[in-house]
Amino acid sequence: MNPQRRRVLIRAATSAAAAALGLPGVRAGTGRARDIDVHIELHAVPDQVAVHPGAKTRVWRYRGRLLRGETNALDASADSFPGPIIRVRHGQRVRIDLINGLPESTIVHWHGLHVPQDMDGHPRHAIAPGARYVYEFTVVNRAGSYWFHPHPHGRTGKQAYAGLVGLFLVSDEEEAALDLPTGPHDLALVLQDRNFDDDNQFVYLEADGGGAGTQGHGMMGGGMASMMARMMGVLGDEVLVNGRPQASFEVDRRAYRLRLLNASNTRMYKLAWSDGSPLTVIATDGGLLAAPVQRDYVMLAPAERVDLWVDFGRWQAGIELALRSLAFEGGMDMGGMMGSAAALPDGAPFPVLRLRVRDGATIVGATLPRRLSTLPPPAPRTAINAGHPKVFELTMGMMVWGINGEGFDMLGASPLETIKLGTHEVWEFRNEGQAGMMGMAMPHSMHVHGLQFRVIGRSVSSRFARSYETVKAGLVDEGWKDTVLVMPGERVRILLGFADYPGLFLYHCHMLEHEDAGMMRNYLVKA
Ligand code: C2O
Ligand code: CU
Ligand code: CU
Repeated sequence: MNPQRRRVLIRAATSAAAAALGLPGVRAGTGRARDIDVHIELHAVPDQVAVHPGAKTRVWRYRGRLLRGETNALDASADSFPGPIIRVRHGQRVRIDLINGLPESTIVHWHGLHVPQDMDGHPRHAIAPGARYVYEFTVVNRAGSYWFHPHPHGRTGKQAYAGLVGLFLVSDEEEAALDLPTGPHDLALVLQDRNFDDDNQFVYLEADGGGAGTQGHGMMGGGMASMMARMMGVLGDEVLVNGRPQASFEVDRRAYRLRLLNASNTRMYKLAWSDGSPLTVIATDGGLLAAPVQRDYVMLAPAERVDLWVDFGRWQAGIELALRSLAFEGGMDMGGMMGSAAALPDGAPFPVLRLRVRDGATIVGATLPRRLSTLPPPAPRTAINAGHPKVFELTMGMMVWGINGEGFDMLGASPLETIKLGTHEVWEFRNEGQAGMMGMAMPHSMHVHGLQFRVIGRSVSSRFARSYETVKAGLVDEGWKDTVLVMPGERVRILLGFADYPGLFLYHCHMLEHEDAGMMRNYLVKA
């Protein structure tokens, strides 16, 4: 199809999407430069940053350059590795040129965005070193905390670990009307765990030789411990927030919005305030909830986001408060298996960040609206298979992850994975722990590209009920999601709508070592 015609089709599709969602129509254009609201050049490059005192850490990172648009569209990251924050408004036309300055091929995926298949960053679109990939799409998503990261075949875990990550924050009029905290009081917090060697360098998988720029490795190289980590997932014993160890922030005595992203490869967080006060959640992956919800703790699996609203005026000046990850069961735990327990196993407690409340008067007027958004309850009856969900078993066979026993197939999609454009379907992820892998069961963080879905049901087998109790109250299923935690022994039902864009899209576990090892498949939307 010629690009001109494709552009016209895409425009038509986005207007239709807007109409279907009851949103103001997206302005049609000709694709000439003047129709682009935001144009960014995004370079993926090797770099060095100071994380710890002493030697700088070799990383790979995104560096952005704003070619067109308001200056706040690109918040170039300071001196650490998490990439720029891209800030756009609903309805804007965006062009992003990815320029691959890495020594291996890569591609960027816009996690959570509803875009045409060629704009989604599928591994089949990976570009060679030195090459450029031009993304152009209209932002049809509602306001929310979306993000971006690499997605090359079999190398996503490695490239993300090396530091490639950035945020893509969308605002809209519905959100603006709420008067939520903005500017310095709207804090994005990217959570990651890392292992460092004695020379301050990231240690990913042993066979990679440690350096971010190291090329090549055998799938089974690096000994037993590395083989297990490659399969089960890499856990770091140091937790970084926005690329900083032992992160701490000073806050004013007023309301804040904290946007948390779990950009860790495999680690899960069970977030809670150190003083035991409940968390107020205002948004999840796909934006605002209908109303704020309170939780004693919130689970955040890899790729999930949650926006918290917190009024630090509640605390006294000078107080230090911490956001912690509490202990839970059922996490990935290699301990006992190989006698090679991670220094900080999944499910072990640790501090995430410290917040010191500054001196000064309480800034009043910090009330949170009781209603945040219009969010219709999910209507499973709209699904063409209501009552007969498509079942996706999360499987492990012959030491290889899969979905329904199948690994990744670059261009393939089975009949089960073929969908009719314009329909809704119910899917059920089943994590019932094969007996095969020594009876082991792990959580999985299941993500579907190109759309936002709703969680409509969960059930857990009695065998896992006890460990499930330690995470259950922290699952926030009320809003739009693109990633959902599926605990051992659990079945999770989701309702998905396949609108606007035919084509081949991914769904996979976002524990990146699982994804790279084959727990990823395509779905094909047919017109
Ligand atoms: Cu954020 Cu295919 O992933
Ligand atoms: Cu995605
Ligand atoms: Cu997984």
